[in-house]
Amino acid sequence: MTRIPVALGERSYDILIEQDLLSRAGEHLLPYARGNRLVVVTDEHVWAAQGERLRTGLGAIAVEPILVAPGEASKSWPVLAELCDRLLALGVERRDHIVAFGGGVVGDLAGFAAAILNRGCGLVQIPTSLLAQVDSSVGGKTAINVAAGKNLVGAFHQPALVLVDPNGLDTLDRRQLLAGYAEVVKYALIDDLQFFEWLDANGPRLLAGDADARAHAIATCVAAKARIVSADERETTGQRALLNLGHSFGHALEAEVGYSDRLLHGEAVAIGMTLAFAFSAERGLCTPEDAARVRDHLARAGLPVSLRDARLDAPASRLISHMMLDKKKREGRLTLILASGIGRAFVESSVEPAEVEAFLARFT
Ligand SMILES: NC(=O)c1ccc[n+]([C@@H]2O[C@H](COP(=O)([O-])OP(=O)(O)OC[C@H]3O[C@@H](n4cnc5c(N)ncnc54)[C@H](O)[C@@H]3O)[C@@H](O)[C@H]2O)c1
Ligand SMILES: [Zn+2]
Repeated sequence: MTRIPVALGERSYDILIEQDLLSRAGEHLLPYARGNRLVVVTDEHVWAAQGERLRTGLGAIAVEPILVAPGEASKSWPVLAELCDRLLALGVERRDHIVAFGGGVVGDLAGFAAAILNRGCGLVQIPTSLLAQVDSSVGGKTAINVAAGKNLVGAFHQPALVLVDPNGLDTLDRRQLLAGYAEVVKYALIDDLQFFEWLDANGPRLLAGDADARAHAIATCVAAKARIVSADERETTGQRALLNLGHSFGHALEAEVGYSDRLLHGEAVAIGMTLAFAFSAERGLCTPEDAARVRDHLARAGLPVSLRDARLDAPASRLISHMMLDKKKREGRLTLILASGIGRAFVESSVEPAEVEAFLARFT
């Protein structure tokens, strides 16, 4: 078992990572099961694929599952409202813990419900997608999407515990697994060249289902995220912003397809990271070899690395307007995460939009 602490004073918590942890979930969740009962928020896919394992693993603890429809559309006001009503109808109180069992959608939705129900009740995250295991379940960001944009209504609400079972990924479909892998690569690109080299050698094993490779990669990513979140819980000192590597470009691409399944978040991030490194190389910040290495690594894994790969035909002017609407801009300038090499990302908070537009026009 790997135990990774997230040090946040009285909001500190542990992330436990272990093969087959779901089948021992009861041991870890007993302290959170008032009256020997747990309310589990999940989605229909996850419950069908992994629900029985969790139920068995909880042993004598009775489970009250609340199922939402799979997909981004569940991060909405109507689904949140219905979820809160159901949680209250089940008698959930402030001292109780809601279990979020699913991908980032369930984690963000149930996490936000936990943040506001009874002015805040407890939360345990059991992430089941690779993206959720390495990213969204750790750090306390919760949100829903609203008319003005994605994740614009939410709260910081740290979980009390995160349980990660890499074996739960066995039922995740390949495209979703790859999308999560893009976020894995992101951690290596931010500040861990050695991990990038490990991924170069072991990425294929991880993607083919090797349990040890998965556990090692997840633990490395979670430790990195725990470190960044402990240093900058609310994204005030800028360190947490490094986690947005590839995301400014990526969000523009997601906006372009209306946040539809045409392009998954991780796929957009893969293209975005490729663009961030290409842009850094053009500026002479990193070598063209490093930029090519990033692109080739992602492409070899099977991820899209260009707009063409994603069958997107978006003019640079439109991508720039999406980027200018994104929240990471200040006084008409863009904040981008650039890099002086693999494992050496930094925040550049004053990039001229015209420079990025000219770059995109050449690159896309
Ligand atoms: N809070 C944060 O810090 C943070 C960080 C990154 C992303 N996010 C959010 O996360 C969301 C994306 O998360 P996601 O990629 O996990 O998407 P998701 O929750 O929609 O899951 C992807 C799909 O896989 C299915 N699934 C998940 N686990 C499975 C399993 N083990 N077996 C079979 N099917 C499974 C789900 O039902 C869904 O259909 C976005 O809404 C994004 O905004 C939040
Ligand atoms: Zn992301």
